[in-house]
Amino acid sequence: MKIIDGKKIAESLRADIAKEVKGFTRPPGLAVILVGHDPASEVYVRNKTKACVEVGFYSDQLHKSANITQEELISEINRLNDHKTIDGILVQLPLPKHIDENAVIDAILPEKDVDGFSSENIGKLMQNKPFIRPCTPKGVITMLGSINYNLKGKHCVIVGASNIVGRPMAMELLNLDATVTICNSSTKDIKQKAKSADVIIAAAGVPHLVNADWVKEGAVIIDVGINRLDNGKLAGDVDFESVKSKVSAISPVPGGVGPMTIAILLENTVTAYKARI
Ligand code: GUN
Repeated sequence: MKIIDGKKIAESLRADIAKEVKGFTRPPGLAVILVGHDPASEVYVRNKTKACVEVGFYSDQLHKSANITQEELISEINRLNDHKTIDGILVQLPLPKHIDENAVIDAILPEKDVDGFSSENIGKLMQNKPFIRPCTPKGVITMLGSINYNLKGKHCVIVGASNIVGRPMAMELLNLDATVTICNSSTKDIKQKAKSADVIIAAAGVPHLVNADWVKEGAVIIDVGINRLDNGKLAGDVDFESVKSKVSAISPVPGGVGPMTIAILLENTVTAYKARI
C-alpha cells in the first residue's frame, strides 16, 4: 500500500516555484480577501499568505468586515483588477449569506482568477481547454500523477458535488478519459457505487464517512476532507485505519490534499503572472 504524500509533493512544487520566481523581472503578486471571522478560513488564508511569502511572491492580505456590502466588495475587486502588480485575486469562501458568491467570483478578471472558479475558467475546463484550473481538483490530479496512475478507462467515484471540489474534479477526471460518477447527499446506494470504483475521491465534509465497506480491494483513495473534530484533531472523510489494508494507495489527512491546494494556488498565480507579463 502506497501513501500519497501530499506534503512532500507540495514541498517539491514550492521549491520549483521559488527557483523559477528568482528569474522573474518582478515578483508575482497575489491578493487574498477574507470577509468576516470564519475560524477555518482564517487558518487557510494565513497559510496561503505564508506560502506566498516563502516562494518570493508579493502578498496582499485584505481582511474585510462581515458587514461589507456586495457592492463594496466588488468595488475592492475592481481596484485589484486594475492593479498593475497584482496578478492573482482570491476571495476566500464561504462568504456571508447576504453576498452572492457567484457575482463576486465573476467580478474577478478571468486572467486574475487564481482559484479558477469564474464562469469563464470553469467553462474552459468543461470544454477541455483549461486555462486556470481550480486548485484542489488540480492538486488531486497531480497526486495521482505522482504514482503514475493512468486514469484512462478507470471508474472514479466522487463523493460530494461542491462547486469548489466535486464538480470541477469530475471534469478533470473526464478530461483524462476516466468514467466518472458524482454522488451527492441524495444518491441512492452510495456504498455500492463507491465499492465499484477504481478511484474514490472523498469530498463530502463528513468525518470518517468512507470505511472498508465502501472500498473495492486495490482501490485508490484520495481524501479531500479536512474536518475539525470536537477534540481539536483534524479528520478526513475517510476512516484510514478501516480502509488501509484494502487500498493500493491512499492520501492521508493531514499531509495529503491540504498542502497540495496551497502549492497549486502558487502554481496558478505563476500562470496568471505569465499570462499578464
Ligand atoms: N474555501 C475552501 N476551499 C477554498 C478554495 O480553494 N478557495 C477559496 N477561495 N475558498 C475556499
